[in-house]
Amino acid sequence: MTNIIPRGGLVKPARYHPALVALHWFLAAFIPLALALGMFVLKTIPNDSPQKLEALRAHMIGGGVILTLMLVRLTLRLASARPVAATTGSPLLDRIARISHVAFYGLVFVMVGTGLATAVLADLPAIVFGGSGAALPASFGVFPTRVIHGVVAKVLVTLIAVHVLAALYHHFIRRDGLLRRMWFGRRWRSTERKYA
Ligand code: HEM
Repeated sequence: MTNIIPRGGLVKPARYHPALVALHWFLAAFIPLALALGMFVLKTIPNDSPQKLEALRAHMIGGGVILTLMLVRLTLRLASARPVAATTGSPLLDRIARISHVAFYGLVFVMVGTGLATAVLADLPAIVFGGSGAALPASFGVFPTRVIHGVVAKVLVTLIAVHVLAALYHHFIRRDGLLRRMWFGRRWRSTERKYA
């Protein structure tokens, strides 16, 4: 495994920090699962069904777990040394890749924010967790935040599909070992001085 010394002279690791790798793959499974359950289960249960409260509870807890792990991941990403930026050979594609990585964080935070706002507007904390016994609104669609939540979910699904295709392009067509950077293993050669 080779580590790369960029023009600035700082030694860069060959892989991401192992905690970032673990969080990446956990969230890579958990976010699509939350999207699929939201679109194909939660949304299809009528609000007057006895199952709805249980489904909302699981969905809201799942959203909280995703928010917490995304914040941990973002903090760790800013604090740890990262491998040199991968390239596709096209400056335009490289720029799109950088923007899409930032967009991931943005879209997930918008999902959590609009979900939370919908919950507050519909008094869900008291109904779902506080056992207030109040009825759910006939539909959450009356809240603009719910509409945004649904639209952003579709944008996120599209971004995930593009991200997966880009990773496969790097792995199978460019054969540049990109996926290895997001896996466990030795990050530094023993002779190199670590700085993070
Ligand atoms: C990243 C985290 C989240 C993801 C991926 C997610 C995903 C989804 C999806 C895909 C839907 C169905 C949208 C549609 O197809 O129109 C949905 C609905 C909903 N979500 Fe989330 N959600 C997240 C976080 C949250 C949070 C934190 C809350 C509340 C605290 C929340 C509350 C709701 C509510 C109330 C609905 C409406 C259910 C219905 O219309 O019956 N979500 N969510």
